[in-house]
Amino acid sequence: MPGSYLIFGPPGAGKGTQAPRLATRLGVPHVSTGDMLRAHVKGGTPLGVEAKGYMDAGDLVPDDLVVRMLGERIAEADAASGFLLDGFPRTVVQAEALDAMLAERGRPLDCVIVLDVPEEEVVRRISGRLVAQNGRIYHELYDPPATPGVDDEEGLPLVRRPDDEPDVVRNRYRNVYLAQTLPVRDHYRAAGVREVLIDGIGSTDEVAARLDQALPA
Ligand code: AP5
Repeated sequence: MPGSYLIFGPPGAGKGTQAPRLATRLGVPHVSTGDMLRAHVKGGTPLGVEAKGYMDAGDLVPDDLVVRMLGERIAEADAASGFLLDGFPRTVVQAEALDAMLAERGRPLDCVIVLDVPEEEVVRRISGRLVAQNGRIYHELYDPPATPGVDDEEGLPLVRRPDDEPDVVRNRYRNVYLAQTLPVRDHYRAAGVREVLIDGIGSTDEVAARLDQALPA
């Protein structure tokens, strides 16, 4: 049954790898603020121009910009009966804004899905990440494409994200995730929202199977 879900975890935990498939299974759109912001940067929109500097440094884009973008997205018809959020909310201010939007819809967040992966593993994962323009994610060792450097489905070139440089990853993990985003989990715990804790260690298929078991469609 569709509902409103949030997939939560540190950078590199595997949110973007797992979320598209999970969203399809749950019958809701996958709403990734990282993907949306990268599309704005690529398209050279005013929001993209403003967001780029923050993203390249691994810092958060200001709350008001992201909240407005997310509000417009979840007002679209395909999100009427729910969505799987990925990368939002990233701050308690964003969580409070989401709570207000959901209150207007008359249905609170159904579930927070936490992907549990330690820092040393996220660094390993991010250091090998390759992405295609269509958003498909690979890893040079753990999930390589069939042909090196080329997307399996559309033949697009694979590139590294500018925010995957080691110094930027450290900033994203320590100064941003631990300091600003982890309190979002406490916010929802305090509100009594159901939390599903998933061990994110193991192959992508093993993690997907845990998600399927914990969240039957
Ligand atoms: P965003 O794109 O949301 O980045 P993130 O949360 O830092 O998450 P990542 O995309 O880095 O990691 P992931 O968990 O999706 O991992 P993935 O599946 O790719 O945000 C980017 C930037 O946008 C932010 O820094 C900020 O500037 C801005 N932004 C976005 N939302 C915002 C907001 N709400 N407010 C303000 N600013 C915002 O996996 C990583 C790698 O591991 C891949 O190579 C993958 O192939 C591999 N992998 C995945 N699973 C496994 C596994 N089980 N075993 C081995 N390898 C695996």
